[in-house]
Amino acid sequence: MSRINQSILIIFLMSYSLLTFSQNKQLEEHRRKWDTPAWTDTIRNPYVNITAATDSGKILYGQICSVCHGMSGKGDGVAAAGLSVRPANHTSANVQLQTDGSLFHELSNGHAPMPAYKDALTPKQRWSLINYIRVLGKKNAPVKSSH
Ligand code: HEC
Repeated sequence: MSRINQSILIIFLMSYSLLTFSQNKQLEEHRRKWDTPAWTDTIRNPYVNITAATDSGKILYGQICSVCHGMSGKGDGVAAAGLSVRPANHTSANVQLQTDGSLFHELSNGHAPMPAYKDALTPKQRWSLINYIRVLGKKNAPVKSSH
């Protein structure tokens, strides 16, 4: 390998590890802010890859979440401007790099002004929403009207 190629490789590896480092740091800070225990990473999503669940998650998202998080999950719903904290951008790396278990925990317990949904929604409904958040992350697909 030529010297130039070697330097390019080294620069690439260094920036890659720096990026991973800052992402880990961001996730760590996020965990502290939300008080999300590390064990939540081990909760398995029982509905992962179940299309029917993802579909109902999409409908629920349009009905309940989009008012704050926006139809495409970017945190720009109609109610967002009136909140003290900007609703999370569900398409962002900060959200997408978290495990299903940790997102489930956050959705269940809330973090004002984000409401807690553990009493309002069944576990199945909450997992379905996590499935749909993954879709938003992948395709950033807008929620279609259910009519
Ligand atoms: C009243 C407005 C509002 C509604 C309705 C709402 N959210 Fe949120 N949500 C927020 C705000 C604001 C935050 C960021 C809170 C913070 O950073 O302290 C948030 C954060 C989140 C997070 C954490 C993201 C992260 O950074 O890890 C998840 C997950 C989430 N919301 C999912 C949902 C889902 C799913 C629904 C629908 C069932 C929903 N939210 C409904 C306002 C709302």
